[in-house]
Amino acid sequence: MKVLVAGGAGYIGSNMTFMLAQNGHEPVVYDNLSKGHRAAVKDARFVLGDLNDRHLLVKTLQEHDIEAVMHFAAFIEVGESVSEPMRYYQNNFCNTHNLLSAMEDVGVDKFVFSSTAAVYGMPDTIPITEEILKQPINPYGESKWAVERLCCFLSEADKLNYAALRYFNACGAGQNGTIGEDHSPESHLIPLIIQAAMGKREDIKIFGTDYPTDDGTCIRDYIHIDDLCKAHLLALDKLGSEKQQVYNLGNGTGYSVRQVIDTVKKVSGKDFKVTETDRRAGDPPVLTADAAKARTQLGWQTDYPELEKIVESAWKWHSENPNGYDD
Ligand code: UFG
Repeated sequence: MKVLVAGGAGYIGSNMTFMLAQNGHEPVVYDNLSKGHRAAVKDARFVLGDLNDRHLLVKTLQEHDIEAVMHFAAFIEVGESVSEPMRYYQNNFCNTHNLLSAMEDVGVDKFVFSSTAAVYGMPDTIPITEEILKQPINPYGESKWAVERLCCFLSEADKLNYAALRYFNACGAGQNGTIGEDHSPESHLIPLIIQAAMGKREDIKIFGTDYPTDDGTCIRDYIHIDDLCKAHLLALDKLGSEKQQVYNLGNGTGYSVRQVIDTVKKVSGKDFKVTETDRRAGDPPVLTADAAKARTQLGWQTDYPELEKIVESAWKWHSENPNGYDD
């Protein structure tokens, strides 16, 4: 299939672009490079463009005979979304509205959307199923949920077939540790710990050690980027026949912040300073996915459920690319 990958120069989008090509699809990356890296796109077709540029979107969809769109272009900083809600609604919701509207204009009706566990807010039940109440507690989660609702209404009006994939903690480096994570600024736990192990930051801070968990630190469901992308391929294959697909993507196994730190120490063979600090606002104690639906309905199976394998791939990429993508 000819697939437009919006945000294809970012961490998840660039891994997806590679996997699409590897599986016989024809990806076209559309990215404004505000966060992504041109080098991460490698030799895939690339269009430098912004999602608010309706004219360029229509032109790109038409010129490349695009049949489906995968959308990864979003702001992802929860804390920043709280201080700058307008920016998050503008980029994550309004620009997606623009993309969907350009698709409607040219008759492209297949869409895979990068959603998030943040749509659930502070869930009462763990592991989280897709059906529980959606109560986002920040503009980031709310902006993603608003897009999901729009997609749902479009599909009910027979204008769109879509998959909304709710990621838990995407991590690791894809394709045997060759396509990695390079955010600026970095806020995700695994790359931050790796920076501490590489001596690029003086310590790793644990945000809260008084949570109601075994070791007092938060538990998250870490999912390898290759496994995450694999689910997108499966969902893409079903877009011709399924109007609505909504899936959690996680392993269902939780690891605490301390366990992640210990794993990085083991994999890297490095010791570094760990500082215990206050809780970060808005962090639920435990977030793990019930991904049974993706397994049964998509036939999704994960290849890298072990945290150690995930960290090994991330460590490999950061060791081989100490300055990230250099652009
Ligand atoms: N953490 C630390 N120290 C740090 C960074 C993070 O202790 O320096 C902790 C956090 O408090 C949290 C865990 O490590 O308990 C994971 O934090 P991340 O920031 O890596 O990931 P989150 O679970 O906060 O966020 C992820 C995605 C978001 C998404 C959210 C959904 O990155 O995009 O899951 O719940 F919104």
